[in-house]
Amino acid sequence: MKFRSRLNIDLSYLNNNYNFLKEIAPTNKCIFMVKADAYGHGSKSIVNFAHNELGIKEFGTATLIEALYLRQELYKDQFELYVFSDIQIQEKVSIECYLNQRIIPVISNLSDLKFFLNSSDFSHFPLVLKFNTGMNRLGIAHEEIEIVIKLIKKSGRNSIDHLMSHLSSSSLSMVKNKRNLYQLEKFKELKSSFKAVGININKTSLSNSGAIIQKEGLEESHIRPGLMLYGPSSLLPSLRKEHPWEGLIISKLETYIIKTYKVEKGQPLGYGATPCPDNGMIAIIALGYGDGFLTRFQSSTINYRGHKGEVVGRVNMDMAQIYFNMSARSDLIPGELFTVWDHHQENFLHFAEESGTIPYELFCLLSSRIPRIYGLN
Ligand SMILES: Cc1ncc(COP(=O)(O)O)c(C=O)c1O
Repeated sequence: MKFRSRLNIDLSYLNNNYNFLKEIAPTNKCIFMVKADAYGHGSKSIVNFAHNELGIKEFGTATLIEALYLRQELYKDQFELYVFSDIQIQEKVSIECYLNQRIIPVISNLSDLKFFLNSSDFSHFPLVLKFNTGMNRLGIAHEEIEIVIKLIKKSGRNSIDHLMSHLSSSSLSMVKNKRNLYQLEKFKELKSSFKAVGININKTSLSNSGAIIQKEGLEESHIRPGLMLYGPSSLLPSLRKEHPWEGLIISKLETYIIKTYKVEKGQPLGYGATPCPDNGMIAIIALGYGDGFLTRFQSSTINYRGHKGEVVGRVNMDMAQIYFNMSARSDLIPGELFTVWDHHQENFLHFAEESGTIPYELFCLLSSRIPRIYGLN
């Protein structure tokens, strides 16, 4: 039996995107961000390919559970895994996981830092600190640096293995936006303050996709790309021309046309009986909100074999209505493949913008009903 809808992931595009990334940042080491099941693409296959074929040795997850899954599914200890958000290092069961599976917590508050430095379990573990330089999400406040210095010195350590911060606005200009300039400055100050008191910093990283595309933060040892490796630029449309990113979407979202029929302007369509906008054709596709194709996509457009389709009426749990004008009639055939997005970045970004969402969310929305199918071109 054929799957009706699927996400076809072509890993050769990940290879291309990584090569493009290397052109921008040839010397930086890379922590490849694979949070949220590799941005919805399936972390096991993505990490396996990125490690074996692209030689990436460091990966970032959001939670310990995500990291544990990767350790268990893939070879032990051959790559580093960092947990960025939900680290739970003060829980006994988590400590065992960190120690036994060699997963590295990114510490981003004083309470966890004290616990880490006082625990003999972690005495040989790399100290990885994330500071808040202005994003105001996670991160040790940069004003707390004196306390951090005292704690590190008291613990007998004289180095930080990796110092990080995260940018709030890298989709905006890195050289004009005040928030970005402020964060860059604060990160510099942090590095100088540690150096001034004799605390060595072995590795540093600041830049995510938006900053990397703008070639910022490349003086640090590491970069932390996420979105760009899956294809899309994370820059606002107004910056994309000045800072092009040639990434190819690594996935294609495909479904099937279940049924087609002729409609008249005003004819009620589906739940809510939305009046059809004009005379034309409706194609019912086998995707709905149960798959991650949301009601909010109503009115967004999708290109099908050169015809412009529009999501009309309320999206159902497992179906949606796409309106076409009559010129599409001969191309709309029940049983035919219907591609929602393909490897072209512009189409994908356009669909995200029209749907009032962001590329990150569009990827992560796809539910477990959609099989992820991997191939190599
Ligand atoms: C700490 C950190 N670094 C890097 C990234 C990657 O960001 P992007 O996907 O915009 O490249 C993320 C994404 O969530 C993150 O939280």
